Amino acid sequence: MDLLESFEEYLHQNPIQIKTFHPFYQEALNYMLQGGGKRFRPLLLLHVVQAYEPLLVPSAMPVALALEIFHTYSLIHDDLPVMDDAALRRGKETLHKKYDELTAVLVGDALNTHAFYLISSAPLHPQTKSELTKILAINGGADGMVHGQILDCYFEDKRLTIEELKTLHCNKTAKLIAASLQMGGVIADLDPKKANELYDFGIELGILFQIQDDIIDAICSSEEAGKTTQNDTHKNSFINLLGLEKSLQEADRYAVALEKKLASFDEKLQQNLATLLQKYLYRHKKEC
Ligand code: IPE
Ligand code: IPE
Ligand code: MG
Ligand code: MG
Ligand code: MG
Repeated sequence: MDLLESFEEYLHQNPIQIKTFHPFYQEALNYMLQGGGKRFRPLLLLHVVQAYEPLLVPSAMPVALALEIFHTYSLIHDDLPVMDDAALRRGKETLHKKYDELTAVLVGDALNTHAFYLISSAPLHPQTKSELTKILAINGGADGMVHGQILDCYFEDKRLTIEELKTLHCNKTAKLIAASLQMGGVIADLDPKKANELYDFGIELGILFQIQDDIIDAICSSEEAGKTTQNDTHKNSFINLLGLEKSLQEADRYAVALEKKLASFDEKLQQNLATLLQKYLYRHKKEC
């Protein structure tokens, strides 16, 4: 079984379970998690762990799930009418369309908190869990993903420079991706210098991932992407600032630099990450 299959199995065997007499809260908590998704962030973490400490992969599963749950919270809030107002996500109705806005706000809140619960109860050393908690909080919270999202929404219809847009993309997307790699490094007990190298690599990878996401918004149909596209009209996206051709060139530049950097990593890390990254580094070149 590869890591994606193992992770999917783990996710489906560990739904969020609570006791309630609410008619659909329990279902709503799990609705978006079970709806596909590439599982990119948990896979990054798991591949790092597999490269250095394969025996720790099962213990890393709850942390990988925490990342996916945290990311899913960000998507649920991102789709709300007050943010991006999107109707489709992971090939299904967004949570606020399926239920209502109040449910989507509160399910997002619950997933955010639940992610930290999962880390705290993982079968890992307390010091490791404390470090993981800190990394997720720093990169997902006030000066991470949330910072990116507030820049993204505040500056709708207000033009940013390309450097400012990179800072926005770094916060809203790249920091969580970088944190995923770094958290894998922490679980595998890499020396901090190596874990930080992984983090820096993840920042560049995450900016590339968001440039590609901006390209997908412009060139793919909602059906192809499984989410609402042509939805960045008011945004500072790479497409809106640079146009399609230059955005594709910029994505190429990042992909080539990342391939080069990957080649400088330990052999076993390269081998573990290569298959996963082959799918992602040049996804802007693939058909939708
Ligand atoms: C979408 O993330 C939002 C961004 C940060 C670009 P993904 O493209 O990873 O979405 P899923 O998890 O596969 O649905
Ligand atoms: C969202 O960026 C990043 C998040 C933190 C969720 P987008 O708004 O571009 O993501 P999509 O295109 O809706 O998936
Ligand atoms: Mg958004
Ligand atoms: Mg969006
Ligand atoms: Mg997008």
